[in-house]
Amino acid sequence: MAVKKLAVLFSGGGSNLEAILQKLHGKTFGETKIEVVLTLSNKADAGGIAKAAKFGLQSVILNHKDFASREEFDAALVREIEKSGAELTVLAGFMRILTPVFTSRVRAINLHPSLLPLFKGAHAIEQSFESDMKVGGVSVHWVSEELDGGAIIAQRAFEKSAGMSFEAYETKIHEIEHELLPQVVVEILCQS
Ligand code: GRF
Repeated sequence: MAVKKLAVLFSGGGSNLEAILQKLHGKTFGETKIEVVLTLSNKADAGGIAKAAKFGLQSVILNHKDFASREEFDAALVREIEKSGAELTVLAGFMRILTPVFTSRVRAINLHPSLLPLFKGAHAIEQSFESDMKVGGVSVHWVSEELDGGAIIAQRAFEKSAGMSFEAYETKIHEIEHELLPQVVVEILCQS
């Protein structure tokens, strides 16, 4: 039985962190057992901290404001991830722009709430909802130096129903995220 170690970085409510913990942490897939070994937030008041605690995981808090530059913050992230032994890092609502200090050292995937390459950046749900596109969706991609720009691993789309409210649209995005992200993690860890 191989144990594969995962790190999850988050900044907010942590619903995707929770989906990963519920569906993957300590679970076995074929010959592979997945363990979340690091939960880390750049925000001391992130809701995900309590969600991780329910699974017995004490999150590491690294406040980006305590660092003189993006590079110094990223170096601290890299140290924590390397110390944890994680072989894959998931950015699950981690709202920081990362420099090559991080992207060149860490094997990481990012969850993004649009059909990339459309609607990159922090307002993807609002922008994709307001666009005249007839579908919305979610992407998971490899993290590269380009914000929301690395190779796409998986995407799932849905039709915008006529008169769909923003709240219903956002709920649908999150439902898909909670399915797709854990699936992709399993696919990556169980193939490598
Ligand atoms: C998700 O919509 C993710 O795609 C975006 O930030 C949100 C995080 O939500 N990057 P949560 O903190 O996992 O609930």
